Amino acid sequence: MKVLGLIGSYRKSGNTEVLVKEALMEAQKLGAQVDVLRLTDLKIEPCKGCMACVFKQEECKIRDDWNIFRKKLDESDAVIIGAPTYLLGPAGIVKMIIDRNIAFQTRTLHGGSKPGAIIGVAGIKGWEPFTMALLNVFMFTCGIKVVDQAIFYAQGPGEILLDETAMERAKKLGKNVLQAANKPAEDQTYLGEQGVCPVCHQNLFSLKNGFLECALCQVKAKPEIINNKIRLSFDRESLKAHRWSEALFEKFFSAILDSGPRFLSQKDEIKKRAERYINFPHTI
Ligand SMILES: Cc1cc2nc3c(=O)[nH]c(=O)nc-3n(C[C@H](O)[C@H](O)[C@H](O)COP(=O)(O)O)c2cc1C
Repeated sequence: MKVLGLIGSYRKSGNTEVLVKEALMEAQKLGAQVDVLRLTDLKIEPCKGCMACVFKQEECKIRDDWNIFRKKLDESDAVIIGAPTYLLGPAGIVKMIIDRNIAFQTRTLHGGSKPGAIIGVAGIKGWEPFTMALLNVFMFTCGIKVVDQAIFYAQGPGEILLDETAMERAKKLGKNVLQAANKPAEDQTYLGEQGVCPVCHQNLFSLKNGFLECALCQVKAKPEIINNKIRLSFDRESLKAHRWSEALFEKFFSAILDSGPRFLSQKDEIKKRAERYINFPHTI
Protein backbone atom coordinates (compact mmCIF):
# COMPACT_ATOMS: atom_id res chain seq x y z
CA MET A 1 0.00 0.00 0.00
CA LYS A 2 1.29 3.44 -0.93
CA VAL A 3 0.48 6.20 1.54
CA LEU A 4 1.07 9.75 0.34
CA GLY A 5 1.61 12.58 2.81
CA LEU A 6 0.79 16.10 1.65
CA ILE A 7 2.28 18.99 3.60
CA GLY A 8 0.51 22.34 3.30
CA SER A 9 2.94 24.45 5.32
CA TYR A 10 5.87 26.41 3.98
CA ARG A 11 7.69 26.04 7.33
CA LYS A 12 10.27 23.27 7.06
CA SER A 13 10.20 20.96 10.10
CA GLY A 14 7.15 22.89 11.29
CA ASN A 15 4.30 21.30 13.22
CA THR A 16 2.41 20.17 10.12
CA GLU A 17 5.47 18.52 8.61
CA VAL A 18 6.34 16.77 11.89
CA LEU A 19 2.78 15.45 12.35
CA VAL A 20 2.34 14.28 8.75
CA LYS A 21 5.72 12.55 8.86
CA GLU A 22 4.94 10.94 12.25
CA ALA A 23 1.75 9.49 10.76
CA LEU A 24 3.68 8.30 7.69
CA MET A 25 6.42 6.72 9.81
CA GLU A 26 3.79 4.71 11.69
CA ALA A 27 2.21 3.58 8.42
CA GLN A 28 5.68 2.67 7.14
CA LYS A 29 6.41 0.70 10.33
CA LEU A 30 3.22 -1.26 9.67
CA GLY A 31 4.28 -2.14 6.13
CA ALA A 32 3.22 0.80 3.94
CA GLN A 33 5.32 2.35 1.22
CA VAL A 34 5.32 6.08 1.92
CA ASP A 35 5.88 9.23 -0.06
CA VAL A 36 5.80 12.93 0.87
CA LEU A 37 4.93 15.98 -1.18
CA ARG A 38 5.38 19.49 0.18
CA LEU A 39 2.53 21.32 -1.54
CA THR A 40 4.23 24.64 -0.81
CA ASP A 41 7.23 23.57 -2.93
CA LEU A 42 4.98 23.24 -5.99
CA LYS A 43 4.38 26.10 -8.38
CA ILE A 44 0.58 26.26 -8.47
CA GLU A 45 -1.20 28.89 -10.56
CA PRO A 46 -4.72 30.02 -9.67
CA CYS A 47 -7.64 28.48 -11.60
CA LYS A 48 -8.37 30.88 -14.45
CA GLY A 49 -12.09 30.01 -14.53
CA CYS A 50 -12.07 29.04 -18.25
CA MET A 51 -14.28 26.01 -17.43
CA ALA A 52 -12.88 24.02 -20.39
CA CYS A 53 -12.40 21.06 -18.00
CA VAL A 54 -16.11 21.09 -17.19
CA PHE A 55 -17.75 22.10 -20.47
CA LYS A 56 -15.36 20.37 -22.87
CA GLN A 57 -13.86 17.73 -20.55
CA GLU A 58 -10.45 19.08 -21.60
CA GLU A 59 -7.23 18.71 -19.64
CA CYS A 60 -6.35 21.84 -17.68
CA LYS A 61 -4.37 24.19 -19.94
CA ILE A 62 -2.31 25.70 -17.14
CA ARG A 63 1.26 24.48 -17.29
CA ASP A 64 2.43 24.31 -13.69
CA ASP A 65 3.02 21.68 -11.02
CA TRP A 66 -0.64 20.71 -10.45
CA ASN A 67 0.03 17.64 -12.61
CA ILE A 68 2.81 16.55 -10.25
CA PHE A 69 0.28 16.66 -7.43
CA ARG A 70 -2.26 14.81 -9.56
CA LYS A 71 0.22 12.09 -10.53
CA LYS A 72 1.26 11.51 -6.92
CA LEU A 73 -2.40 11.31 -5.96
CA ASP A 74 -3.08 8.76 -8.70
CA GLU A 75 -0.14 6.62 -7.62
CA SER A 76 -1.26 6.47 -3.99
CA ASP A 77 -3.64 4.08 -2.22
CA ALA A 78 -4.24 6.42 0.70
CA VAL A 79 -3.56 10.09 1.45
CA ILE A 80 -2.79 12.13 4.54
CA ILE A 81 -3.05 15.92 4.20
CA GLY A 82 -1.83 18.35 6.82
CA ALA A 83 -2.05 22.13 6.89
CA PRO A 84 -1.63 24.92 9.40
CA THR A 85 -4.32 27.48 10.19
CA TYR A 86 -3.70 30.89 8.70
CA LEU A 87 -6.33 33.49 9.60
CA LEU A 88 -9.03 31.05 10.71
CA GLY A 89 -8.71 28.60 7.80
CA PRO A 90 -6.03 26.43 6.18
CA ALA A 91 -3.04 28.11 4.52
CA GLY A 92 -3.79 29.45 1.02
CA ILE A 93 -2.08 26.62 -0.89
CA VAL A 94 -4.93 24.32 0.17
CA LYS A 95 -7.60 26.54 -1.45
CA MET A 96 -5.41 27.11 -4.54
CA ILE A 97 -5.37 23.33 -5.12
CA ILE A 98 -9.07 22.91 -4.24
CA ASP A 99 -9.95 25.39 -7.01
CA ARG A 100 -7.77 23.59 -9.54
CA ASN A 101 -9.36 20.27 -8.54
CA ILE A 102 -12.49 21.25 -10.47
CA ALA A 103 -10.65 19.45 -13.27
CA PHE A 104 -11.17 16.24 -11.26
CA GLN A 105 -14.95 16.56 -11.54
CA THR A 106 -15.63 13.10 -12.95
CA ARG A 107 -13.31 11.45 -10.47
CA THR A 108 -15.13 13.18 -7.62
CA LEU A 109 -18.46 12.00 -9.01
CA HIS A 110 -17.49 8.38 -9.38
CA GLY A 111 -14.56 8.04 -6.98
CA GLY A 112 -14.58 8.48 -3.24
CA SER A 113 -13.27 5.06 -2.27
CA LYS A 114 -9.62 5.91 -1.63
CA PRO A 115 -9.19 6.49 2.11
CA GLY A 116 -7.50 9.51 3.60
CA ALA A 117 -6.93 11.38 6.83
CA ILE A 118 -6.63 15.03 7.80
CA ILE A 119 -4.21 16.77 10.13
CA GLY A 120 -5.15 20.35 10.97
CA VAL A 121 -2.78 22.53 12.98
CA ALA A 122 -3.67 25.75 14.80
CA GLY A 123 -1.89 28.03 17.24
CA ILE A 124 -4.85 28.88 19.47
CA LYS A 125 -7.97 26.87 20.31
CA GLY A 126 -11.08 28.51 18.87
CA TRP A 127 -9.16 30.39 16.14
CA GLU A 128 -9.51 27.63 13.53
CA PRO A 129 -13.24 27.55 12.56
CA PHE A 130 -12.67 26.81 8.84
CA THR A 131 -9.47 24.73 8.95
CA MET A 132 -10.91 21.21 9.16
CA ALA A 133 -13.93 22.15 7.05
CA LEU A 134 -11.79 23.29 4.10
CA LEU A 135 -9.41 20.38 4.48
CA ASN A 136 -12.49 18.15 4.15
CA VAL A 137 -13.41 20.04 0.97
CA PHE A 138 -9.88 19.36 -0.28
CA MET A 139 -10.44 15.63 0.26
CA PHE A 140 -13.90 15.70 -1.33
CA THR A 141 -12.48 17.38 -4.42
CA CYS A 142 -9.80 14.69 -4.66
CA GLY A 143 -12.43 11.96 -4.38
CA ILE A 144 -10.96 10.79 -1.09
CA LYS A 145 -13.02 9.34 1.72
CA VAL A 146 -11.98 10.75 5.09
CA VAL A 147 -11.51 7.93 7.60
CA ASP A 148 -9.75 9.94 10.30
CA GLN A 149 -9.11 13.58 11.15
CA ALA A 150 -7.71 15.54 14.05
CA ILE A 151 -6.81 19.10 14.93
CA PHE A 152 -3.58 19.79 16.81
CA TYR A 153 -2.42 22.91 18.68
CA ALA A 154 1.10 24.30 18.63
CA GLN A 155 2.67 27.64 17.75
CA GLY A 156 6.46 27.71 17.26
CA PRO A 157 7.86 25.45 14.50
CA GLY A 158 8.22 21.89 15.81
CA GLU A 159 6.73 22.74 19.23
CA ILE A 160 4.28 19.87 18.73
CA LEU A 161 7.20 17.49 19.39
CA LEU A 162 6.86 18.33 23.10
CA ASP A 163 3.20 17.21 23.12
CA GLU A 164 3.29 13.45 23.54
CA THR A 165 -0.48 13.05 23.31
CA ALA A 166 -0.47 14.84 19.97
CA MET A 167 2.38 12.72 18.64
CA GLU A 168 0.56 9.54 19.70
CA ARG A 169 -2.59 10.80 17.97
CA ALA A 170 -0.63 11.40 14.75
CA LYS A 171 0.71 7.84 14.94
CA LYS A 172 -2.80 6.49 15.41
CA LEU A 173 -3.96 8.48 12.40
CA GLY A 174 -1.22 6.87 10.28
CA LYS A 175 -2.27 3.43 11.52
CA ASN A 176 -5.97 4.15 10.91
CA VAL A 177 -5.42 5.29 7.35
CA LEU A 178 -3.32 2.25 6.49
CA GLN A 179 -5.83 -0.12 8.07
CA ALA A 180 -8.59 1.49 6.01
CA ALA A 181 -6.49 1.15 2.83
CA ASN A 182 -6.14 -2.56 3.50
CA LYS A 183 -9.92 -3.02 3.61
CA PRO A 184 -12.48 -2.98 0.81
CA ALA A 185 -14.26 0.40 0.56
CA GLU A 186 -17.50 -0.91 2.07
CA ASP A 187 -15.70 -2.07 5.23
CA GLN A 188 -13.84 1.19 5.84
CA THR A 189 -15.30 2.94 8.86
CA TYR A 190 -14.79 6.47 10.12
CA LEU A 191 -12.37 6.50 13.07
CA GLY A 192 -11.96 10.21 13.86
CA GLU A 193 -13.77 12.46 16.33
CA GLN A 194 -17.52 12.27 15.73
CA GLY A 195 -18.36 16.01 15.65
CA VAL A 196 -21.95 17.20 15.26
CA CYS A 197 -22.60 16.52 11.56
CA PRO A 198 -23.00 12.77 10.98
CA VAL A 199 -21.66 13.09 7.42
CA CYS A 200 -18.54 15.27 7.63
CA HIS A 201 -18.17 15.32 11.44
CA GLN A 202 -17.74 19.12 11.45
CA ASN A 203 -19.48 21.55 13.79
CA LEU A 204 -20.06 24.34 11.28
CA PHE A 205 -23.80 24.99 11.07
CA SER A 206 -25.86 27.96 9.85
CA LEU A 207 -29.44 28.79 10.79
CA LYS A 208 -31.87 28.58 7.84
CA ASN A 209 -35.67 28.87 8.14
CA GLY A 210 -35.75 27.38 11.62
CA PHE A 211 -33.41 24.52 10.64
CA LEU A 212 -29.72 24.15 11.27
CA GLU A 213 -27.78 23.31 8.13
CA CYS A 214 -24.26 21.91 7.94
CA ALA A 215 -22.27 24.49 5.97
CA LEU A 216 -20.22 21.73 4.42
CA CYS A 217 -22.68 18.98 3.48
CA GLN A 218 -26.04 20.78 3.67
CA VAL A 219 -27.42 18.19 6.07
CA LYS A 220 -30.43 19.68 7.87
CA ALA A 221 -31.39 19.31 11.52
CA LYS A 222 -34.26 20.54 13.65
CA PRO A 223 -32.94 21.98 16.94
CA GLU A 224 -34.82 21.32 20.17
CA ILE A 225 -33.92 22.45 23.67
CA ILE A 226 -34.13 19.62 26.17
CA ASN A 227 -32.90 20.20 29.73
CA ASN A 228 -31.17 23.41 28.62
CA LYS A 229 -29.20 21.52 25.98
CA ILE A 230 -29.61 21.70 22.20
CA ARG A 231 -30.64 18.38 20.66
CA LEU A 232 -30.59 17.97 16.90
CA SER A 233 -32.96 15.73 14.96
CA PHE A 234 -31.39 15.16 11.55
CA ASP A 235 -33.57 15.19 8.47
CA ARG A 236 -33.32 11.72 6.86
CA GLU A 237 -33.68 12.94 3.28
CA SER A 238 -30.85 15.45 3.59
CA LEU A 239 -28.67 12.79 5.22
CA LYS A 240 -29.05 10.72 2.06
CA ALA A 241 -28.85 13.62 -0.40
CA HIS A 242 -26.04 15.62 1.20
CA ARG A 243 -23.83 17.95 -0.85
CA TRP A 244 -21.21 15.28 -1.58
CA SER A 245 -23.63 12.47 -2.41
CA GLU A 246 -23.49 11.32 -6.02
CA ALA A 247 -27.05 12.53 -6.73
CA LEU A 248 -26.54 16.06 -5.41
CA PHE A 249 -23.09 16.42 -6.90
CA GLU A 250 -24.48 15.40 -10.29
CA LYS A 251 -27.21 18.02 -9.88
CA PHE A 252 -24.53 20.61 -9.11
CA PHE A 253 -22.61 19.76 -12.27
CA SER A 254 -25.72 19.75 -14.44
CA ALA A 255 -26.59 23.22 -13.05
CA ILE A 256 -23.16 24.36 -14.26
CA LEU A 257 -23.56 22.62 -17.63
CA ASP A 258 -27.03 24.17 -18.12
CA SER A 259 -25.51 27.62 -17.73
CA GLY A 260 -23.45 27.09 -20.94
CA PRO A 261 -26.19 27.35 -23.61
CA ARG A 262 -27.89 30.17 -21.65
CA PHE A 263 -24.65 32.15 -21.55
CA LEU A 264 -23.90 31.54 -25.25
CA SER A 265 -27.38 32.71 -26.30
CA GLN A 266 -26.86 36.00 -24.41
CA LYS A 267 -23.17 36.45 -25.16
CA ASP A 268 -23.48 39.37 -27.62
CA GLU A 269 -25.72 41.37 -25.31
CA ILE A 270 -23.40 40.73 -22.34
CA LYS A 271 -20.39 41.82 -24.46
CA LYS A 272 -22.15 45.06 -25.43
CA ARG A 273 -23.05 45.85 -21.81
CA ALA A 274 -19.53 44.93 -20.61
CA GLU A 275 -17.78 47.50 -22.83
CA ARG A 276 -17.86 50.34 -20.29
CA TYR A 277 -16.23 48.04 -17.69
CA ILE A 278 -13.53 46.88 -20.09
CA ASN A 279 -12.63 50.49 -20.81
CA PHE A 280 -12.47 51.45 -17.14
CA PRO A 281 -8.79 52.32 -16.38
CA HIS A 282 -6.78 49.74 -14.41
CA THR A 283 -3.74 50.34 -12.20
CA ILE A 284 -1.89 47.43 -13.82
C1 LIG B 1 0.18 34.09 8.80
C2 LIG B 1 -0.24 33.25 9.97
C3 LIG B 1 -1.54 33.28 10.39
C4 LIG B 1 -1.97 32.47 11.45
N1 LIG B 1 -3.28 32.50 11.81
C5 LIG B 1 -3.73 31.69 12.79
C6 LIG B 1 -5.12 31.66 13.13
O1 LIG B 1 -5.95 32.35 12.57
N2 LIG B 1 -5.50 30.80 14.10
C7 LIG B 1 -4.63 30.01 14.78
O2 LIG B 1 -5.04 29.28 15.66
N3 LIG B 1 -3.29 30.02 14.47
C8 LIG B 1 -2.84 30.82 13.48
N4 LIG B 1 -1.50 30.82 13.14
C9 LIG B 1 -0.58 29.92 13.86
C10 LIG B 1 -0.24 28.64 13.11
O3 LIG B 1 -1.40 27.94 12.73
C11 LIG B 1 0.61 27.76 14.00
O4 LIG B 1 1.79 28.45 14.35
C12 LIG B 1 0.97 26.43 13.38
O5 LIG B 1 1.64 25.65 14.33
C13 LIG B 1 1.84 26.57 12.16
O6 LIG B 1 2.10 25.31 11.64
P1 LIG B 1 3.48 24.94 10.89
O7 LIG B 1 4.54 24.96 11.94
O8 LIG B 1 3.24 23.63 10.32
O9 LIG B 1 3.68 25.97 9.85
C14 LIG B 1 -1.04 31.64 12.12
C15 LIG B 1 0.30 31.63 11.69
C16 LIG B 1 0.70 32.41 10.64
C17 LIG B 1 2.13 32.37 10.19
